Amino acid sequence: MEVRTAPSVHELDPKTVIVIFVFEGEEVTPESLIPEASRLVGLAASEGLRSAEYDTTLLRSESGAPTLLLVGAGEREGFEPLKLMLVSAAAARYAVERNFRDVAYVDPHTDCVDVSARAIVEGAIRGSYYPGVMKTRGQRPQGLDALTLVVDETDADAAQAGLELGTIVGESACIARDFVNLPPNELTPSAFAERARVLGEEAGLQVEILDGEAMQELGMGALLGVAAGSRQPPRLIELRYGDPEAAIKLAVVGKGITFDSGGLSIKTAQGMETMKGDMGGGAAILGGMLAVARLAPTGVSITGYIGATENMPGSNAMRPGDILTAFNGETIEVLNTDAEGRLVLADLLAYAESHGATHIVDFATLTGGAVVSLGNAASLASGRSQEWVNAVVDAAAAGFERVWPMPLYPEYRAAMNSDFADIKNSGGRNASALTATAFLSDFVSYVPWAHVDIAGTSFLDEAKPYAARGGTGVGVATIVSLVRQLTSDATTSDQEGSNHD
Ligand code: BES
Ligand code: MN
Ligand code: ZN
Repeated sequence: MEVRTAPSVHELDPKTVIVIFVFEGEEVTPESLIPEASRLVGLAASEGLRSAEYDTTLLRSESGAPTLLLVGAGEREGFEPLKLMLVSAAAARYAVERNFRDVAYVDPHTDCVDVSARAIVEGAIRGSYYPGVMKTRGQRPQGLDALTLVVDETDADAAQAGLELGTIVGESACIARDFVNLPPNELTPSAFAERARVLGEEAGLQVEILDGEAMQELGMGALLGVAAGSRQPPRLIELRYGDPEAAIKLAVVGKGITFDSGGLSIKTAQGMETMKGDMGGGAAILGGMLAVARLAPTGVSITGYIGATENMPGSNAMRPGDILTAFNGETIEVLNTDAEGRLVLADLLAYAESHGATHIVDFATLTGGAVVSLGNAASLASGRSQEWVNAVVDAAAAGFERVWPMPLYPEYRAAMNSDFADIKNSGGRNASALTATAFLSDFVSYVPWAHVDIAGTSFLDEAKPYAARGGTGVGVATIVSLVRQLTSDATTSDQEGSNHD
């Protein structure tokens, strides 16, 4: 997609659809922008122009005047960049469904222009995304060919910086969505690894893939316990960026269960319908690393670790009662084979720390408890230290994602005590998102670590005006913001160029 700015709508190609944000209670007067439009807008208003969130009104004329797409933005008060992104997405979704592929957005003058530009283009890319890669019949709407942001000349540089960042984040998030949407018979752990290798190397990342044998040698008994019930061999995918000698070494770790049947503690039929999405954390790591490679920050090393395996009830499957030994030597009593994500993460976290990470964050569709707590509205963060958890929460907000912090009280770890091993893998129903975090905390000894449970945010069960059904790409934007926050130089150039209006 081509992305650019223009100082005025008069410089647009006549086939460009012009998107105008309409706030509740505000009169639409785009005649200053497009003289021919006044008649059209007057017409729409007389029919009752709807400005509620995501409402769309398309205005076309026979007279050769440009086509306008008015999109409801809701109340101007409290309008956040996240909302701007979603409204922009709704407009793009409407446009591509009608085969308009060249759109221009008129700057809504809401936030810093670079933040607005980022939100608008990221929304447009997200909104025009459709799954259905495997459809052989019917139409999968194509994405946008071109996007223009109409801003004052003085704001053009700041806007351009925002457009570039938003394009990278939006496109990388859509790659993550593609991976989540792929069926589990196609995206096996080894296919995940091969695809990650191709994309990673293309982007300039160093890619290393460990197979089951290599994991055996390293002593990753927890991950291998999960893999034992499947015919599909597991993979550990390692994606490296940057200077390994840098003072800041960030490890981003993802749960990559390509299908979670529950194992012998098998799920219900309905419970496993969307469990192809149980690698959403791994997809976020891949998307995030690809974005990082394009952004090319300096003075930092970032390593992505994805633990890819199926959780199946094959004849060699781990049993409730089995005791596994993790990479750090700790023994784990398996009580519920459906609590498999934490087993995979246990080995990955300990491995990342042993490789010298100075900061760790993991993303995982880990618990139904996270969905009970926050629904689909936000991801749940917890970990050690609380400062680092808060840094991740702040990074998410800067990336237009919602992550909410939760505590890690000693009681949660006590619930995981086992009579037969160092720890057990299930702590019952109460606070299950946090007893899961307490479990993970045994596998990180001293490095600041935050765990982001994306069980409620990684997969949309039904389409929204601003998004298709399926994978959301959650986590990619948080990773990008976190890296920008950690690197001193990454943010300065666009902050200097930003322009508050
Ligand atoms: N992948 C699931 C969690 C999940 C549930 C993700 C719903 C997305 C939507 C995870 O492996 C799981 O089964 N967790 C169990 C753990 C329990 C058995 C201790 C859960 O949370 O119910
Ligand atoms: Mn499970
Ligand atoms: Zn799972």
